[in-house]
Amino acid sequence: MGNEPAGTIPPVDRATGKPLLRALAGEVMASSPVWLMRQAGRYLPEYRKIRAEAGSFLDLCYSPELATEVTLQPIRRFGFDASILFADILLVPDALGQDVSFREGEGPVLAPIRRQEDLAGLELTRLHDVLAPVYETVSRLSVALPEAVTLIGFAGAPWTVATYMVEGGTSRDHATVRRWALAEPDSFGQLLDILVEATAQYLEAQVRAGAEVLQLFDTWAGVLPEPAFERCCIAPMRTLVTRLRQSCPGIPIIGFPRGVGAGYARYVAETGVDGVSLDPSVPLGWAAETLQPHVMVQGNLDPMLLVAGGDAMAEDVRRIREQLGDGPFTFNLGHGIVPETPPEHVSELVRLVRIPL
Ligand code: CP3
Repeated sequence: MGNEPAGTIPPVDRATGKPLLRALAGEVMASSPVWLMRQAGRYLPEYRKIRAEAGSFLDLCYSPELATEVTLQPIRRFGFDASILFADILLVPDALGQDVSFREGEGPVLAPIRRQEDLAGLELTRLHDVLAPVYETVSRLSVALPEAVTLIGFAGAPWTVATYMVEGGTSRDHATVRRWALAEPDSFGQLLDILVEATAQYLEAQVRAGAEVLQLFDTWAGVLPEPAFERCCIAPMRTLVTRLRQSCPGIPIIGFPRGVGAGYARYVAETGVDGVSLDPSVPLGWAAETLQPHVMVQGNLDPMLLVAGGDAMAEDVRRIREQLGDGPFTFNLGHGIVPETPPEHVSELVRLVRIPL
């Protein structure tokens, strides 16, 4: 592409002493790092205030000033070890020219792509022009964050982004996208190829702007039968990891193939990721034995236990720390924070995670 931001990408220095980078390098730590998926968002009154000022959700994502502010809010309030860029996985389809909007109480709405002919409407040429404000947010954050806090850039994995592009939003059964993926693998593969290229360029630009770790969210990896999981989730992820290893030497990559059960083992062995986020259903003894010898694991408190708080949360925090604390580990949720979460429960969680066992 002619319009990619110029400049070489400096290798990431893993020996800087930042807790998340140390865990990703395989270090077993007395007190694990902690951050939470969706740590910025509607459960915080200070987020709701900025969100109301911004107008639409996309305006917020594309405002470097406001996106920087909402990214920093949970860092100030809770002192997490890592900060995840405030953006959304659906910025990539938006930047490819698909019509994307977020409606109050309805979630994302996209003009759906249903067949091979629709792919002609997707354009890589404007990608960096549309996404430039996100790169600006990343560079502001890399200056503004406290020294020990790791800056995580992210994108959706190609399969999960494709589900939204084809279904036109969040779907209950993913019937349309699964039918396309399973019945016409070649034409569906063209959509995945476009997303691999766009996602690689997007993540490379985030690293150039200062992202120190990358996370890829494959929220809907668990809805595919095994051969299609290999073709639609593992293979595109392996391509992305291989490319990013070359273009961004040393950048740690975390994958989140949510809901794939025993498929986590294959995902780790075949994609080359440095870490995986575990969903709440993953048995921890199995993860410690099968996954942790190869990668850092992250997880996996059920977001509803964070809503509940109290003894139920404390007991599960202890269980997770005991089972995963003997290998490379970062405490996190098993999926994103929900809006009804009391912020005091998040403070309590961070306190519990940092108590010596
Ligand atoms: O704090 C962070 O984690 C960083 C920001 C972030 C958002 N979305 C902000 C957001 C991240 C990492 C995401 C990822 C994302 N977005 C995923 C993958 C992870 C997951 O949760 O499964 C997915 C599937 C999306 C797509 C998406 N964005 C949906 C389905 C929705 C609507 C549901 C909802 O929670 O409202 C969004 C909107 C969204 N993305 C919000 C936020 C803070 C809420 C919108 C608002 O404030 O009005």
